[in-house]
Amino acid sequence: MAWRALLCCLLAEVATAETASCSPSEDEETAQRTSFVQMAKHLEKHLESREAALPGVCLRSLSWEIYRKPIQEVLKDHPNYDGWCIYGIMGELFSKCAVAREVRQLVPFTDVIQKKESPMHLGRTQRFVLEGSEVNVDRMHVLDDLYCHVNGWYELSSEAASNYSYVEEASKKYCQSLEEKVPGYRTMSLADVTKISGENEDWLASLRQDLVHLPQKVSNGLLALGAAKCLMSGTGSAAICDMAHCAKKKEEKLMLQQKKLG
Ligand SMILES: *[C@@H]1O[C@H](CO)[C@@H](O)[C@H](O)[C@H]1NC(C)=O
Repeated sequence: MAWRALLCCLLAEVATAETASCSPSEDEETAQRTSFVQMAKHLEKHLESREAALPGVCLRSLSWEIYRKPIQEVLKDHPNYDGWCIYGIMGELFSKCAVAREVRQLVPFTDVIQKKESPMHLGRTQRFVLEGSEVNVDRMHVLDDLYCHVNGWYELSSEAASNYSYVEEASKKYCQSLEEKVPGYRTMSLADVTKISGENEDWLASLRQDLVHLPQKVSNGLLALGAAKCLMSGTGSAAICDMAHCAKKKEEKLMLQQKKLG
């Protein structure tokens, strides 16, 4: 459901005979707006309860317009801010990435994500087939794991977990490779990102089998979520945080495997 708007935009360029409409229905828009207003209120309240300005949070409120506007255009409206900081009010996964980019150290981000290691996107299924090969994923963080796989970030060297220059270069390469892989990603807004994430969670919750072939639309959605990270700066270096996170996850997986073997 939430997929429709974005995916049809993404796939419109690929589609041949079908003419897809990219605007969400009126009901859908009203529902979106209502849940946005609730979220924005909650976020502002949280910020008001803090005395000092929070590092990595550049705007003290989030408007519906900013939420719905293509990320690229929002960045143009705030030329002196990093994208992660513009959306920093969304929470630490945004604001700490802004801080990491400012100090050119990955630790502020990787530390905070470590602390948040409570089960997210808990799934029953552990075995997935991606592009013909079977992978075992972390049942506590299924979507996170699939996201790292689909975007190819488990193939990064372990240096990506700690070496800022290394992961910055890797991000630039990744961001340059997107035009073909994720057509249309440049018009994505934060609302699109939220929609895709919600749809992924619905899909995960609906799974009943032990072994699941990753559907193309889920795979496309995970690619789009990766691509959206590239929009957070004009230089293609903005995917560093998620890449570092995936590299760190890979290290932990290897350690766990060795423990099991030893
Ligand atoms: C970090 O990565 C860069 C770029 O790949 C490399 O030149 C540098 O030697 C690395 N630094 C460390 C401390 O390994």
